[in-house]
Amino acid sequence: MNAVTLPPGPSGVLRSTYRVLRSPFRDFPRWSAQYGDPFTIPTVNGTVVMTGDPALIKIIFGADPDLYGPWAVDALGPTLGQRSVFMLEGAAHSRERKLLAPPLHGDRMRAYADVIAGVARRRFAAAADASRVVTLDLAQQISLEVITRAIFGADDDERSLALQAGVLGLVEASSPLMFFMPFLQKEFGGIGPWARFRRKFVVLDALLQQQIDRVRKRPGTDVCSLLAASRYDDGDAMPDAAIRDELRTMLFAGHETTAITISWAIDLLHRNPATLERLRAEIDALGPDPDPEAIAKLEYLDAVCKEALRLYPVVTEVLRVLRAPLQLGAIEIPKGIGVSASVLLAHRREELYPDAEQFRPERFLERRFSPFEYLPFGGGHRRCIGAAFASFEMKIVLGVALARHRLTLLDDEPARPVRRNVTMSPSGGVPIRVRDR
Ligand code: HEM
Repeated sequence: MNAVTLPPGPSGVLRSTYRVLRSPFRDFPRWSAQYGDPFTIPTVNGTVVMTGDPALIKIIFGADPDLYGPWAVDALGPTLGQRSVFMLEGAAHSRERKLLAPPLHGDRMRAYADVIAGVARRRFAAAADASRVVTLDLAQQISLEVITRAIFGADDDERSLALQAGVLGLVEASSPLMFFMPFLQKEFGGIGPWARFRRKFVVLDALLQQQIDRVRKRPGTDVCSLLAASRYDDGDAMPDAAIRDELRTMLFAGHETTAITISWAIDLLHRNPATLERLRAEIDALGPDPDPEAIAKLEYLDAVCKEALRLYPVVTEVLRVLRAPLQLGAIEIPKGIGVSASVLLAHRREELYPDAEQFRPERFLERRFSPFEYLPFGGGHRRCIGAAFASFEMKIVLGVALARHRLTLLDDEPARPVRRNVTMSPSGGVPIRVRDR
């Protein structure tokens, strides 16, 4: 067999893994400049060929889905569950997506507008009493409560609070190392981080099952009810274990990611006064108590959210493992290797985004970007299923907050991207003061 020559890249498995985890915003651009695009990164989860070139990203997203296995299933499986859409492949994966997508789109999604606005109004109003609030904590409380109500279907405060506590217990018991280094997922006789995580997992699972039992008796318009009532193409219902896994998946995929982007947007807006002013004018034109659906249609607000996700993509790269060789431009990548579309590198290309380091939402009003140039939600057959929901939620939360409040940043320095579990989030979480306008 011929030896395979992969593109050059950094050496040292542990060192590169550490850099990927620690400083992708610094090291991906550095590696791309030093070694060219694509470049190869050795990691503890396998070797990865990474690109930020839209022409190559198009090849990755456009390839036959059967060419790929999901990435890091050993690491994520015990957390998300074996029936999670993240874990599935081939026909089972597309079958699952067909049931998951409808509740998160169109009229069904728009039905959650009032829930989102109600939660945001209440949480921001409560924050107005404090001298200091960490935006990321506040945004996470909001997105978590939204998930318990719109997705899990908790229709009263007591149930919503119990689910929020269950989730927080699990989130607090997880550590980024556990996800990236599956060999740490051992119980060691009931002690240690993994055993603690498992105990919290069981608690949340019981709460999710209670929700499923409830919505089976009394369905609502929430995602849990819709999944419980849905049928695969062959007429089979989704089993409870699968619903629990998918609810947990949506929670993990959806609540931190959305909160992080809201926090970046608030930081960036308040460090760019002209942008903030333009956005306020757009929101104020809707009147003192804007309708949440009207907020979600605002063009400049949409551009602000897009630009925050461009500059600080919460997920810096998406990964697929090859089951067969892939011709990536001039290079044939062999099976067993990971291929990665770097969201971060694509989003900072000067020829696409002039002054790429600048926060300039107008660029999204001036031109359209292809799905291979702008990809905060990944792409191809695994593109984020919650993208529309996340954008809808972010716009309503920001719109409601700015319509009613004046926010002041309390840190002089702009936030920097730092690792938080699988995602990258703003350092310090963006401390602010919230006051009524
Ligand atoms: C700003 C918020 C969000 C960002 C930046 C984000 C980003 C992503 C990315 C990059 C992927 C991987 C795509 C790929 O591999 O090509 C993904 C997958 C996924 N996301 Fe999101 N996401 C967000 C919010 C949400 C929300 C709110 C939900 C659900 C309510 C959600 C559910 C999912 C699911 C289920 C997948 C797996 C799809 C599959 O494997 O087929 N996400 N997301």
